[in-house]
Amino acid sequence: MSAVNMVLTMSELHGCVVVVTGAGRGLGAALALAFADAGCRMIICGRNEDALRHNAAAITERSKRPCDVIQLDLAAAESVAAAVATIRASHEKIDVLVNNGAMWLEGRSTPYSAQEIMGTINSAVSGTFLFVQGLLPQLNKSHRPDIVTIGSTSSLPTAALRHVSVPFYAAKRAQGALADGFRQQLLGTPVRSIIINPPDLDDISTLDPEWDKSPSRQKGERATNRDIADAVIFAVTRPRHINLSITVDADQGGVFS
Ligand SMILES: NC(=O)c1ccc[n+]([C@@H]2O[C@H](COP(=O)([O-])OP(=O)(O)OC[C@H]3O[C@@H](n4cnc5c(N)ncnc54)[C@H](OP(=O)(O)O)[C@@H]3O)[C@@H](O)[C@H]2O)c1
Repeated sequence: MSAVNMVLTMSELHGCVVVVTGAGRGLGAALALAFADAGCRMIICGRNEDALRHNAAAITERSKRPCDVIQLDLAAAESVAAAVATIRASHEKIDVLVNNGAMWLEGRSTPYSAQEIMGTINSAVSGTFLFVQGLLPQLNKSHRPDIVTIGSTSSLPTAALRHVSVPFYAAKRAQGALADGFRQQLLGTPVRSIIINPPDLDDISTLDPEWDKSPSRQKGERATNRDIADAVIFAVTRPRHINLSITVDADQGGVFS
């Protein structure tokens, strides 16, 4: 993308109200900063309030705009209901909702606890569905509403299990169905449902010099959270009549490695 187009893309998001789940660390924290850098008013949600407050302070210092912190455990229906109520009480409209939060569960040979299984499935599927459902009235008040779900290459129907657990694999596959289901349910309305499927990522802090070097990585290297933040911003700034599903692949940590 040319420098001029990049500036136009970023200015298109200026003033948008954006909600990101799982924004206390990793990709969610990077996404929140990327949207804030594009001029958005951020609402960041997650379980770890200290981490969220730290990230909100960094966003406010950099953007000079307030950033709301919302306590949200996607695996607990009451927590989702409370978060939805708080956001609805303070924001009449939401332009972009990013479903990033989802519990990771690595594959292993020993049994998983019920809590691990329920936490993995509920955070990615039930809690995410409830959160979207609760915030749809706010999205419907936007002139450019987008729901972005961060899936995984495990969300692809042909994905191999690799190193992930079966519950995580099933949860991510279900997230693919969630995004497709919303796309069908919302046909003919202004709301788009977009899915971005990352491969295994190198998690780079936005303050690390490696963040700026990510776009010059070569084929054979792993993808980074910066690559996913860029893909999300690209997807939400496409013309409104199209709807992108993006699978970000890489030689290392990708679909076939
Ligand atoms: N990192 C990768 O290689 C990779 C690859 C493919 C897809 N993804 C997807 O990208 C998204 C972000 O993951 P990540 O890269 O930052 O690594 P991660 O270690 O998988 O982080 C998971 C994120 O989800 C949040 N989360 C987990 N359970 C939650 C719950 N019950 N309620 C609310 N938030 C919850 C975590 O917040 P806490 O701080 O509260 O734990 C954290 O921010 C996830 O959907 C993940 O599946 C990541």
